[in-house]
Amino acid sequence: MCGIVGYIGNKDAREIILNGLEKLEYRGYDSAGITLRNNTADTFNVYKDKGRIAHLKSIVDYSYDSGLGIGHTRWATHGIPNYANSHPHYSKDSRFFIVHNGVIENYKELIATYLQGSVFASDTDTEVIAHLIERFSAKMSVSEAIRKTMSLLEGSYALAIIDRDNPHKMYAAKNKSPLLIGLSDHGIIVASDVMACVGYAKEYIPLDDKSFVEVDGASYKIKDIIGKPMEHDVKEIDIDASNIEKGEYAHFMLKEINEQPGVIRNILQRYFKDGKVTLNGPIKEALQETDRIYIIAAGTSMNAGFVGKQIFEKMANIPTEVHIASEFAYNMPLLTKNPLFIFISQSGETADLRAVLVNIKAKGYRSLTITNVKTSTLAREADHFVEIMAGPEIAVASTKAYTAQIAILGILAYGLSDGHINLYKELSRVAISMENIIDKREYIESLVKDYLTKRNCFYIGRGIDYYTCLEASLKLKEISYIQTEGFAAGELKHGTIALIEDNTPVIAIISQRDISKNTRSNLYEVKSRGAHTLVISTKSVHDQDDQIIVDDVHELFSPMLTVIPSQLIAYYAALARGNDIDKPRNLAKSVTVE
Ligand code: M6R
Repeated sequence: MCGIVGYIGNKDAREIILNGLEKLEYRGYDSAGITLRNNTADTFNVYKDKGRIAHLKSIVDYSYDSGLGIGHTRWATHGIPNYANSHPHYSKDSRFFIVHNGVIENYKELIATYLQGSVFASDTDTEVIAHLIERFSAKMSVSEAIRKTMSLLEGSYALAIIDRDNPHKMYAAKNKSPLLIGLSDHGIIVASDVMACVGYAKEYIPLDDKSFVEVDGASYKIKDIIGKPMEHDVKEIDIDASNIEKGEYAHFMLKEINEQPGVIRNILQRYFKDGKVTLNGPIKEALQETDRIYIIAAGTSMNAGFVGKQIFEKMANIPTEVHIASEFAYNMPLLTKNPLFIFISQSGETADLRAVLVNIKAKGYRSLTITNVKTSTLAREADHFVEIMAGPEIAVASTKAYTAQIAILGILAYGLSDGHINLYKELSRVAISMENIIDKREYIESLVKDYLTKRNCFYIGRGIDYYTCLEASLKLKEISYIQTEGFAAGELKHGTIALIEDNTPVIAIISQRDISKNTRSNLYEVKSRGAHTLVISTKSVHDQDDQIIVDDVHELFSPMLTVIPSQLIAYYAALARGNDIDKPRNLAKSVTVE
C-alpha cells in the first residue's frame, strides 16, 4: 500500500527518500512522486508520475543539492493512477506540499463546508488537506492550521508536510495509518515503515494516533491535536540490511520459501528451553482463562488461523472460531462470557484487523497479536503479542509467515496440552522435511509446465487439507493470475464439479489418514470427467501414482509441509507467465486501508 518517506537534514534528501521508497516498493503501489527543495535557489520542485520508482528516478533532476523533501508511493483509492493523482499534492498557491497514506472519508463534506469554489488538480481526497491547511494558515500559525485540519478529518491519515515559506521545517501527522520518525545524527526522517530508515537511522519513534510532529532543523516536538506534548518511546532499529536484499535469488518469494526451515529452527530456539515452551505467564493465563478463542485475520494469515482452530481445539481443548476481520468489524457475532481475541497478521498493520482491535478493546476484552513485526500497530496495541520470528517478508505473496504462524499457534496451544505430542520433535522434523521438499523444486517446476496450462485450476482436500487448499489456491491466484479455488473435496459434487472439463487442472492435497480414501474417491470423480489431476500426499497415505510425496509429521502440522509444494507451484506458474512475482498486480503487502 502507499508509502511515505520525508527527510530534513544535512545529507542528500533525494538519495535518502528515493532509497527509502525503494525499500517500501514491496508494499505494492502504482505511482510514485517526490518534492525536493533546491537548497541554493530556495525553490521546491515536484516530480511524480504513474509507474515504478525506477521511472521516478529517471525524471528527477540531480543537478542541485537538497536537504529537505517528501516522497510517496501511491496505491490508488480515489482516482486512477496518473500524473495528477500521484502525490505529492499541493495547495492552491503551491505553499504546502503533502503526501498522504489513508482515506479521508469526509473529504466531500469538507469541500462543501470550507472550500467551495476551489479548483482541484486531482481526483484525490488528499488534495483537500493541502487546501485546508493553506486556508487556515491565513489566520493562525502553520502548526495550528495543521492541527485544526486534523481535527476536521474523518478517516485515516499519515501525513508528511512541507511549507514553502519555512524551509527549515517539516511536519507530520498520524491517525490510524502507520507513521514514525527516524532519528540520526545527520537529520530526521518521517516514514510509514521502519524499513525505509534502514541504513540511515539507528533509532525511531512510532507515533500514536492523533499525533502531530513539528520538526525544526535537528529537533522535533510531538504533540496531540490540541498542542499538548505527547509522551513517546525511542526504539532501536534492529533490522539487518542484508535481510532485505534478494541475495543470490531471482525473487524474494523464492528466497522466502527457502528460508522456511531456518525460520522454524529460529522459532524453536526462541520459544523452547529444555523441551519446554517458554511463553510469558500472562499469555498462558489468558489462554487458560478464556472459554473461547476468536481468531481475527485476513488472507494468508486467516488460512493459518483455520489450522490454528484445529490446533487449539485438538491440542488444548479450547473452542475456537476464525473470522474474516473485515466482516467481524461491523457484524460481530454473539460472544461467550470470556473471549480471547487472537489477531494474526504478518505485517501487524492490516486496517481491517485494527478496526476489530479498537472495537473489542473498547468493550474490555483481552487481545493477543501474533505478528512478524514487533514494532507494528497491532503488536503495540494488543494486551499481548508473540513474534513469529520469520524475518522481513518482502514478497507480497506470503510464504514463510504462514508456516511460522502455524508453528506459533502450535506453541501457544502446547503450553495447555497434555503433552501427548512432542512439539519440539515434531517441529524439528517439519524443518528437515521442508528442506527435502525444497530440494525437489526443479521437479516441481517441470510438473507446473505440464499441468498449469489452463486459465483455471482447483485445489481439493478434506479436513485440515481443505485449509491448506485455501492457502494454496490464494497463492496461485495472486501471483499467476490463474483463476484458482480451494474446495472441500466432498462439496464438489454439490455444484462445482459442473466446471470440470477436459484437462481442467485439479490438485488434491491428501495427508489425513482417516479421510484420505474419501478424497481419493472425489479425485476419481473429477478424473473421470476429464480433469488433469495432480496429488500432493504424505508418505503414509500415498498412492504410487501420486506426483508429490512429503514426509509424515503429526497431522495438525502437515499443512506446514503440504503447503510448500503449492508455494513452489505458484512461484513457477507465475515465472512461466513472466509475471512480476514479488509485486503482483493490484496487490499490496500491507493493507492499511479498510
Ligand atoms: O499482514 P497481514 O498478515 O495482516 O496481511 C493479510 C493479507 O493481506 C495477506 O495475507 C495477503 O492475503 C497476502 N498477500 C497473501 O499472500
